[in-house]
Amino acid sequence: TTKEPTLIFMFGATGDLASRKLYPALYEIYKKGNEFAVIGLARRQHTHESYRSMVDRALPQGADRRKEFLDRFYYQPLDITEPENFARLKNISDQIDTQYQLNGNRMFYLSLAPRFFGVAARNLKKAGLTETSGWKRLIIEKPFGHNLESAEKLNHDLLEVFDEAEIYRIDHYLGKEMVQNIEALRFANPIFESVWNHRSIANVQITLSETLGVGDRASYYDQTGALLDMVQNHIMQLLTLTAMEPPSRFEPEDIRQEKVKVLKSIRPMSSDAITNQIVRAQYKQGVMPDGTRIGGYHDENNIDSDSDTETFVAARLFIDNYRWTGVPFYIRTGKRLAAKSTEIVIQFKDIPNNPYLYEFNHIGPNLLVIHIQPDEGLSLKLNVKEFGEEGETVPIAMNFSNNVKRQADTHTPDAYERLLSDCLRGDSTNFTRWDEVAFSWSLTDSIVAAWKDIPLDYYEAGTMGPASSDRLLALDGFCWWPLT
Ligand code: BG6
Repeated sequence: TTKEPTLIFMFGATGDLASRKLYPALYEIYKKGNEFAVIGLARRQHTHESYRSMVDRALPQGADRRKEFLDRFYYQPLDITEPENFARLKNISDQIDTQYQLNGNRMFYLSLAPRFFGVAARNLKKAGLTETSGWKRLIIEKPFGHNLESAEKLNHDLLEVFDEAEIYRIDHYLGKEMVQNIEALRFANPIFESVWNHRSIANVQITLSETLGVGDRASYYDQTGALLDMVQNHIMQLLTLTAMEPPSRFEPEDIRQEKVKVLKSIRPMSSDAITNQIVRAQYKQGVMPDGTRIGGYHDENNIDSDSDTETFVAARLFIDNYRWTGVPFYIRTGKRLAAKSTEIVIQFKDIPNNPYLYEFNHIGPNLLVIHIQPDEGLSLKLNVKEFGEEGETVPIAMNFSNNVKRQADTHTPDAYERLLSDCLRGDSTNFTRWDEVAFSWSLTDSIVAAWKDIPLDYYEAGTMGPASSDRLLALDGFCWWPLT
């Protein structure tokens, strides 16, 4: 891995994401020997000193080499819509570049609302900031548009300034340890790869459940909803990693190519069958498992009492290719559910005409569960004979755990650290390529178009969603496996 010195332009430097995730991540990366300097950019007034104190507060307690890290942070107040501000920025960046010998390598991190992406890129170019003797890379946060059309427009604006290979679209789920492990699990273990298809797999269940409500993000969330907030990006990423063909080489482009093929093969939604394909729901008041009483979505601050934004989505998808013919992929995500958990369950088919099935009561299907968070690990559910004379079968689980209990309801702390470090090295594997975004939007758009006519369903806070979500699986004779 090459660690090249870099000048990092942190747009949205005073924002929540920067403090919660980006500064702590940069600090870890710095301690691992990466050379960089940072220019913080936002509208607010700050001196270099007051900005450094702000970054300082974002770091963990008692962190070592703190001062030398903070000394590399500079601040420049900037209005993104003012080209003159960028001319000033050019001067200070050239100085810092020379001072730290950063060889003209530049990473632009836009931790901004997407409506500013285009103008920020344009103004960077106009001021000559993107003409540099080293490399340049752009990192952007979601949401990448709100449908295919707006995403295309956004992409078009960015391509005026950056090449596709220079654009790093963040999906922080791709930085999670066990998400990165899906490929290793599948392709480094012949016992799984040989059964990873419609002949042996009965269904796949992907759950991203959250206990949190919308918190202080009401204005964003109410316009977005669970489909765009979680399905279009995170769930689609997990689904493609689970379903893709083995890439011929472990190169970013080969891997991403295989993921795109999966997205292209997902059967589009049709309006007439929509109620058998998708459920949209919103939470009502309820009681969380810890006993806390929770109001409904309409009781949240800044949510209109007639808002019909969905806080829960479940869907039954089919991937129309050879490997997955006839295998349903069930997905679900929601706020204010009974647990914070991300899991993928692979349910294997039963043995045909299995005499054990008729003899014994305690026999269940083989399940492979990939625990993504808060636990990180795997479990494989098998049936064995009970010890002793009776000879009944009992289900057992072989468990592997990384033994890192993540704090519930937070982003995996090191996801951003991994992704930032990948970007500094120029490895785009775990970032979303444009065609992935585009195909994922086409699917989401087809859902939005089809579900206009289905009424919103409701679920009690603290449950695992509405009964209609169970019905999607019952159609095929299956059920959601309880989260473990
Ligand atoms: C974000 C969504 O992308 O992911 C949030 O905007 C959600 O609504 C979050 O809470 C979940 O991330 P994690 O890492 O906590 O599972």
